[in-house]
Amino acid sequence: MLKTISFLAVTLSYLAITAFGQSKDLAGDVEKGHAIFVKNGCYQCHGHIGQGTIAGARLMQTKLTQAGFIGFVRNPPPSSMPQFRPQVMPDQELADVYAYLKSIPPPKAAKDIPLLSGL
Ligand code: HEC
Repeated sequence: MLKTISFLAVTLSYLAITAFGQSKDLAGDVEKGHAIFVKNGCYQCHGHIGQGTIAGARLMQTKLTQAGFIGFVRNPPPSSMPQFRPQVMPDQELADVYAYLKSIPPPKAAKDIPLLSGL
């Protein structure tokens, strides 16, 4: 009996941890993310495919977690970039942009580009 109760207690706490302990990423839509990235002007500083420009960091294949990505856009360091509040850009839209940026394949290595490999 005691064994059953302790088994149940362990199982229940495990379920509670997996259900509530982790923050779940929102599913993102790549197509929508691309449109939002353009519409909201992210491309103006970060480049059309998030390749990075002189004005903004490279975002394609970002190493940030989804939460880190959203957190940065919500609260960027002073004088780095405009702040996008949830009223302007809800979490779901940022999840879509995140999915878009993650979907862009990495650039080829210089050795795999014929014009560069011959030099
Ligand atoms: C006016 C120019 C500008 C615009 C517009 C802009 N950004 Fe930025 N962004 C920056 C700059 C500058 C940084 C800081 C780069 C650094 O310090 O490495 C930055 C940093 C970031 C970072 C952190 C990158 C990292 O790896 O640390 C994210 C994420 C980001 N921007 C997302 C966005 C998104 C999404 C949008 C559109 C909703 C956007 N930005 C619009 C200029 C801009």
